[in-house]
Amino acid sequence: MAIDTLAFMTTMENRFGFTAEDKSILQANAAWGEEIAAEMAAHFYGYLGRDAEMNGIINATEGRVQRLTDTFIKWFGEMFTGIDNWGAVYAQRRWQIGVVHVKVGIQPQHIVPAMSTVINEVAKRLKAEGKSEELKDALGRICMIDLAFIEQSYVDISASAVLQETGWSSALLKRLISTGAASIN
Ligand code: HEM
Repeated sequence: MAIDTLAFMTTMENRFGFTAEDKSILQANAAWGEEIAAEMAAHFYGYLGRDAEMNGIINATEGRVQRLTDTFIKWFGEMFTGIDNWGAVYAQRRWQIGVVHVKVGIQPQHIVPAMSTVINEVAKRLKAEGKSEELKDALGRICMIDLAFIEQSYVDISASAVLQETGWSSALLKRLISTGAASIN
């Protein structure tokens, strides 16, 4: 579905209270982010690997774990640099990450706890190194924005796929969902 990814980014920045100060703090700590990215990736894939279902997904194809590690490190660093100051390129990139996960069949039940793991592990490092609360808050907010992108793409892409396959209008789909939800106790 063609969403305006930059408009979504702006909405999320407002809803999460991601400010210009947050951006400056993150950029000022970009080198530190780069320094700890590989260790964070190791924690992340260690965590996914301890869950039988997620372990199956990350090892489903040859070379996937290595590719994932590389892309995680890149993703992690981009939270600090903002790519283009958290502009159109950043927003499009975050949307694309969501699209890749939908294609592979990864659901919110996998993504949300995974992001929580990232936040917890970063918090440990921040504490150990005496980093500021402001940096912790800024990182928490950008992680939540990235999470919102992945979750929103899941909903939008699933809906688009149904519309495309069935030829239904989006109004009809919305009505069916509301009616179905109303019948569930
Ligand atoms: C905090 C949550 C997550 C982040 C930030 C993240 C990040 C990424 C990134 C940056 C990519 C590369 C996208 C691209 O190619 O453009 C990717 C791909 C992928 N991720 Fe995640 N991911 C997350 C959660 C998960 C979870 C929970 C799973 C598995 C249960 C998973 C499995 C995968 C798979 C299978 C791919 C495709 C790998 C391939 O190229 O074969 N991810 N992820």
